[in-house]
Amino acid sequence: MTEKELVKQAIQAREKSYSPYSHFMVGACLETQDGTCYTGCNVENAAYTPTNCAERTAFFKAVSEGERAFKRIAIAGGPKDGEKQFCTPCGVCRQVMMEFCEPESFQIIVAKSEEEYEVHTLSELLPKGFGPENLDR
Ligand code: THU
Repeated sequence: MTEKELVKQAIQAREKSYSPYSHFMVGACLETQDGTCYTGCNVENAAYTPTNCAERTAFFKAVSEGERAFKRIAIAGGPKDGEKQFCTPCGVCRQVMMEFCEPESFQIIVAKSEEEYEVHTLSELLPKGFGPENLDR
């Protein structure tokens, strides 16, 4: 899949966002090493803290289907009635990525549109992260 196709799927997944409290809609598309894609959206909650970000939704869907090896993720987010922005993942989502991804090679694509996006590595966004290797795993 091309970067543009991955971004397109993230934008489509954003339409499923359940965000009645923040009205901030986020979609993600996670690609495995073998090219399978798992989408996700943010799912909010009246009690606020159980809210799940789009990125973690995609990761948990994939991991719960047995996937363990990931190549990259595309993210599209912004206010419901406004422009999309370069929506970089929150700290908790970066830590979830650290659990399953190689920080130097895993790519995080943040997109405003299929034409306008930035590509970062996990190590750029989470330098000196703590991960499974710290526990000799
Ligand atoms: N959110 C995401 O889904 N991903 C991000 O990268 C940043 C924030 C969600 C959480 C919450 O539902 C809303 O956006 C506002 O924080």
